[in-house]
Amino acid sequence: MAEENKGKSTKKYEFIEDLPGIGPATAQKLRELGFHTVESLATATVKELGQAGIGEKKASEIIKLARSSISLAFIRADELLKMRQNVLRLTTGSKTLDQLLGGGLETQTITEFYGEYGSGKSQICHQLCVNVQLPPEKGGLGGGALYIDTENTFRTERIVQMAKHLGLDPYEVVRNIIYAEAYTSDHQMFLLENADEVIKENNIRLIIIDSLTAHFRSEYLGREMLAERQQKLNKHLHRLIRLARAFNAVAVVTNQVMAKPDVFFGNVVHPVGGHVVAHTSHTRVYLRKSARGPVRIARLVSSPYLPEGETIFKITENGVEDVEEEDKKR
Ligand code: GTP
Ligand code: MG
Repeated sequence: MAEENKGKSTKKYEFIEDLPGIGPATAQKLRELGFHTVESLATATVKELGQAGIGEKKASEIIKLARSSISLAFIRADELLKMRQNVLRLTTGSKTLDQLLGGGLETQTITEFYGEYGSGKSQICHQLCVNVQLPPEKGGLGGGALYIDTENTFRTERIVQMAKHLGLDPYEVVRNIIYAEAYTSDHQMFLLENADEVIKENNIRLIIIDSLTAHFRSEYLGREMLAERQQKLNKHLHRLIRLARAFNAVAVVTNQVMAKPDVFFGNVVHPVGGHVVAHTSHTRVYLRKSARGPVRIARLVSSPYLPEGETIFKITENGVEDVEEEDKKR
């Protein structure tokens, strides 16, 4: 990458204190605010750095250097195009589901799976934790997974089962999944805000929040709390999308919806002040159970550029799989 940026400042900074202008005390304050890595500084705002007592001019200089250090800049359309070219895809385990998603789940965006209980949201999350560890030629990203679990539904036994089916060493696969249980919505936010170092150190290429909304739903009750809930959720999702972009990772969130869906996603990923994240970063997939036991129906409800569509897949002992022709006849 260094060659591509000839003429620009291409100095690589490994630690935040390596950046000019960040002394030990400032570094400490930045860490307390959740900025542990150069990557996180590259996607920070001047205002955020202001909270660490860094003046505006210095803050924008730091952000600029951090961006050039990790070759991340959102400014011009050709650079956005370059970022798009870096987008990688992660297989779900089902070819038809991958096709629906344009070839698998994309890095640098958030994919939301929503549906009622038992529709397969957590199962897909488990499967992705295994698949991400596969090499690219097998649909993986050759990296690890971070699983933020809010409902205590993560099961290593299930991971082992899926790993064995793919011929992977279950012990290795389990080792490459970093797990955190979130006890409240604030805790959930805190975990993600402090995740950048863990992501970097463990070569995490998949970030899962299962469920994104459960704590928020149970803690913020009634209309008068709606605005606050949306604001927090918005902040949380922005943090997630930034991590996904900085580390070229896949981000997955789940959301249980019942017969009467409440409004979680109106403007959620839409920025207030014209942030680059914009609406281009949210793919939504609606999951339904079917009359045939293991078969599930997935509907692509919204995507930045793919058409709506529907497909079926199944959940078996092996994990997420295609529905075979024989299954269809039954
Ligand atoms: P909530 O979190 O309650 O909203 O549901 P969810 O959408 O996360 O559902 P989940 O992914 O947990 O799906 C549960 C379903 O997956 C079960 O009802 C089973 O049909 C299937 N399933 C889970 N584990 C196994 C397994 O080990 N073997 C098989 N064959 N199916 C499984
Ligand atoms: Mg679940």
